[in-house]
Order: sequence, then C-alpha cells, then structure tokens
Amino acid sequence: MSLISNLNGLPCIEGVALQAVAEKFGTPCYVYSRAALTAAFSAYQAALVNHKANICYAVKANSNLAILNVFARLGAGFDIVSGGELARVIAAGGDPTKVVFSGVGKSPDEMRQALAAGISCFNVESASELEQLNAIAGAMGRCAPIALRVNPNVDPKTHPYISTGLKSAKFGVAFDTAVTLYRHARNLPNLAIRGIACHIGSQLLDPQPAADAAGKVLELVDQLAAEGIVFEHIDLGGGMGIRYRDEAVLPAKDYLAPMLARLVGRQQTLFIEPGRSLVGNAGLLLTRVEVLKHGEEKNFAVVDAAMNDLARPALYDAWHGIVKVGAGGTAMMAGAAAQRYEIVGPICESGDFLGHDRTLALAEGDLLAILSAGAYGMAMSSNYNTRPRAAEVMVDGDTMHLIRRRETVAELMAPEALLPQ
Ligand code: LLP
Repeated sequence: MSLISNLNGLPCIEGVALQAVAEKFGTPCYVYSRAALTAAFSAYQAALVNHKANICYAVKANSNLAILNVFARLGAGFDIVSGGELARVIAAGGDPTKVVFSGVGKSPDEMRQALAAGISCFNVESASELEQLNAIAGAMGRCAPIALRVNPNVDPKTHPYISTGLKSAKFGVAFDTAVTLYRHARNLPNLAIRGIACHIGSQLLDPQPAADAAGKVLELVDQLAAEGIVFEHIDLGGGMGIRYRDEAVLPAKDYLAPMLARLVGRQQTLFIEPGRSLVGNAGLLLTRVEVLKHGEEKNFAVVDAAMNDLARPALYDAWHGIVKVGAGGTAMMAGAAAQRYEIVGPICESGDFLGHDRTLALAEGDLLAILSAGAYGMAMSSNYNTRPRAAEVMVDGDTMHLIRRRETVAELMAPEALLPQ
C-alpha cells in the first residue's frame, strides 16, 4: 500500500495533507505515518503468532524517540549497536530486558551501561570481546548474558556495502571457531550463554539465504547441545527488503516461512532484528524545488534537501521514488511540460543527488516527496555544509506531531570553541 493517498485531490499521509505539513514545519522535513509503522510491526507479529518470539527493532534504521515509542507500545524489543541507542530505547519507554546489543566494537563504558540496564543479550562478535565482557561483568558483580554472532558464510545477494554474512566481512565469528569459543565462554565465570545469533545482510528480497543461514546455525545448535551447551534463544537477525522501485517483495509471513519451517520442533525463542522493513516505507522526505536550471545537456531541479539529509543515493547509488505533491509555482509555470531532471541538492559535491533522470513537470516552489525514506534516512543524516538537520513529523490520523524540530545553526556551533588567542 502506498504511503501517499489522494484525499479530495490533495496528496496526504493518513488524514493530513503534505502541503499542510510543509506549510507548518517547513522543508526539508521527514514525515512518517504511525499507521504504517503499526501495520509493518503487526505483520511480523502475525507471522510469528505461533512462535515464541522477540521482535527486536533495529534502532539504527531510525532512532527517533517517537518511533521507538510506537514500537515499544506494540511490545517490541530492540536491537542496538551503541550506548547512545540504548539510552534512546530507555528514554522512549522501551524495555531493556528485551534489548540485544550487536556490533563489532563495544566499548567498556557501553558494556557497563548495558549490564547496568539489564539487557537481554550481548551479541558477541570476537574472542577478545568475550574476555573483556567477562572481566567487566565480574568487576560489577554481574553475569553477562551472551550469544555469539556467527558468520554463516551465506551470500545474501544484496549490495556489497550491506552484505554482512560472508567470510570476508568484519562481522561475527567464523563458523568453524564458534564451537571452540562457546566451550571457552562456558568456562568464563561471569558470562551466561543464552543464545546464538547471525545477521547476513540488508535489503534481502529472496528468503532463501536467510533460511540457509538458519539451517547452518541450527547445525551448530545441535552440535553444541550434544556437549551440553544449550540455548534459550536463536537470533536470526534482520534484513528483509522493501520495495523502493519495482522489487518483488514478499509479505513478512511469506519471507519468514522458509526460515520458520527450519525451526519446527525447536524449543528456543526466536529473535529477529528487522529495521528497514518496519520503517522504510512508513516515511518520506518532503522537499521544495528551489531552482530549475536548464543546462546544455541536462536539466537540474535543485531542491532544499540534500545528501546530508538522505545519503543513500550518494552512498549506494540507491533509487528512491520522487513525486510531486504540491504546486508552488505561478499558474503559468505550473502548466510546464514534463521534462527529464536531475534532482539535486545544494551541497558542493557532484555526488549530491537524490535522483537521476526523473521525468517531472516542475516549477520552482513545487513540493516533492522522496519516497521510502523512513529507514537509514534521518538516521544517517549529517550537518555537512553546516546544514541544520531536517524536522521530523509523525502523522497519526488527522493530526501531525512534530517529533523533532529543525536544528538551528546556533545549535550546530554550540559545542565548538575559539582558541584563547
Ligand atoms: N541486525 C544487525 C546486526 C544489523 O547489522 C542490521 C543492519 C540489522 C539488524 C537491520 O537490518 P535491516 O532489517 O534494516 O535490513 N545503511 C544501509 C543499511 C545498513 C544496514 C546495517 N545493518 C542502507 O541504507 O541501505
């Protein structure tokens, strides 16, 4: 279902016109739909209704407090990768006992913070991390719940930058060394083995690689069980893809079916860590056309959003739909014929584009929506070119809520200092 619907000829999210959002909060502005977030989460809940499961939203995809709060109210757990993300989960009312902590480089402070909060599990990614965590937990008089993130060496068939389960990746521990490490972990006094984890990549469309990874993880589960190392949970990570353009995307229940088929008869709770598929198509980026430039070879529509707001096109050559959602030009200009445009931002980089070769009838002042921007959009934004980050708005029925106000330039400069002389 498309995020934008037409109510009385006005492009809307739920019951709110996008033009009204832009008028009230300005552009660039991320806009999310609470109903779409809820629907995406509910699809996972429905798919897992017959399983013991902990759906851990991957906070990195979009860490706005209001979004975390929507998922917390629906009963979500959370997958975090930093102490900052843990602080956000707690501030948003999330339950720390449903948190898993992933990542290849947890600092001692982050380990202490997570132990004090009583998280569900550390997904440990190296031999050295086991030792560090054991020492820190011991010093705190605590026992650290752990899983090893194993690297199943399965090709997820996605963009190389977001593929994480191959042998060559920095993530996880090698499949063959996992048994040795679990034996070692069993003897460390301040660790409690709780589970096993893997995550093979992101924007996965074919369910088979994730099911294959599950199969490989289960081989280890059985091998370790024979030695008396048993797990309470199996964490199979995130990664389900979404439709940006014309990708064939399965509903959550069909994507998970081959994986769940492998788990039949297993006692362990299933943890999953979806990020993109919960938020990606629940949000868009509203931007206004500042300038139209008709060059010799190309036409440019310079908009007020840029690669600092949405890095995915510049970083991954990612394609995002771009549609016109409001006319800003004069009546004469509004009647302009469709032309092919490069949709670019004002940043001083040739890589600052949001879309190539888009056929649109544009006038200066028009309002555009960059679609499928709810995941890894605001979360990856920066202040490059001293651009204050965008506002974020959540639509809930007929109401719009400002969930992050636009930054000010004064705020950007506040942490800095001049030399004394
Ligand atoms: N769990 C772990 C351990 C992860 O590393 C990730 C994502 C997830 C879960 C969530 O995966 P998802 O369900 O969102 O695919 N910035 C890139 C995506 C990076 C993904 C990093 N890890 C992009 O914009 O496409």
